[in-house]
Amino acid sequence: MTNKQGITQLSVRDLTMVATMIAILIVLGLFPGIPLGIIPVPIVLQNIGVMIAGELLGPRNGSLAVWLFLVLVALGLPLLSGGRGGLATMIGPTGGYIVAWVLVPLLIGWGLKLTGRSGELYWLVELAIVWLFGVLFVDGLGAIWVSAQSNIALSASLTSSIAFIPGDTIKAIISVILVRRLRKSSSIF
Ligand code: BTN
Repeated sequence: MTNKQGITQLSVRDLTMVATMIAILIVLGLFPGIPLGIIPVPIVLQNIGVMIAGELLGPRNGSLAVWLFLVLVALGLPLLSGGRGGLATMIGPTGGYIVAWVLVPLLIGWGLKLTGRSGELYWLVELAIVWLFGVLFVDGLGAIWVSAQSNIALSASLTSSIAFIPGDTIKAIISVILVRRLRKSSSIF
């Protein structure tokens, strides 16, 4: 919604969607992270929420939801998996993944807008966009950060991060199926 001064405002629908998305991210954080052992980063569920934010809410509202969620974490609320929170957690070994999360809704949202969202096989394009930005980009940037932060060789952290790819790919597939069903079943998306 744009007002007379040309300033884009959030509608009640936008605010409701952003608040709901934040609630979903919080609920996903209730699942404790599963340690992998080979890298100081757990398997979590919250990254599927970040993918869904971009797919369902688009670049602006999706980013707003993830930003606000991370502001709450930075303020110290224990909303990351395992009840973690605070600025120190965010700049720890998992900081690169969290920085990437901030950009995911923007990249997925823009990618879906640019590709027009139509055609019989569009679900494949959608999955490719979600996988590229929600999985490959996050796991890549996260591994680079782990290497810099934990004195682990870049090759070793990148190789370890490959362990996340199968699970994250399943999350990307689930998110695409879920969001496409929601779009079909409700006119609000
Ligand atoms: C945190 O809770 O501190 C952030 C955790 C980041 C975990 C990353 S997200 C991408 C990859 N897939 C996972 O399941 N875990 C890592």
